[in-house]
Amino acid sequence: MMKEKTRIAVLVSGGGTNLQALIDAQNRGELSHGEIVVVISSSRLAYALERAKTAGIPGHVVNLKKRGSQEAFEEGIEDLLKEYRVELIVLAGFMNILSPTFTSRWPNRILNIHPALIPSFCGKGYYGLKVHEAALQRGVKVTGATVHFVNEIPDGGEILLQKAVEILPDDTPEVLQRRVMEEAEWKLLPQATEMVAEAIAKEKEK
Ligand code: GRF
Repeated sequence: MMKEKTRIAVLVSGGGTNLQALIDAQNRGELSHGEIVVVISSSRLAYALERAKTAGIPGHVVNLKKRGSQEAFEEGIEDLLKEYRVELIVLAGFMNILSPTFTSRWPNRILNIHPALIPSFCGKGYYGLKVHEAALQRGVKVTGATVHFVNEIPDGGEILLQKAVEILPDDTPEVLQRRVMEEAEWKLLPQATEMVAEAIAKEKEK
């Protein structure tokens, strides 16, 4: 009997290039144990929502400011996760904090892509371009990306996959960010998502 695909929600806030990498992997048949059933954005302006629409994936906005509190924000996300019977959450450029109350309800069921080799350049304040600025500032010769499970410690959960990326002498933060995305993030996130989706699908089989 065909295993039921693991139902995946992708949470976004911005450009959605990591979401696009997941959509492209799904279209290439590289996400065979999972299906992206919903995209949830913390901002109505996120281009990631356009990407979802083009791919025919339902998109919704849950905005912290509009919801008025962290609790109401997380309740809005949980309602959608229930509505779409989500089994696996992937944070792809998602810029909001999720509380320990939320993450503890999803043990080993939330993945995040961080644009550095954790434990370097991670934790509070390290996101987006700031991560690459810090790496260049420190003068490291190698950086990369990490996919990890999300728990109550920012960037603290179990590490699933990492990939190293070389820093070149005249790199700017923007050039470095693009290389880390192309050579690491956009490869690792689909790979890790399929790994966990397969494990969940197999679990359901038992
Ligand atoms: C980028 O800094 C990426 O490294 C990190 O989130 C930011 C936006 O990614 N994962 P995306 O283009 O919205 O996926």
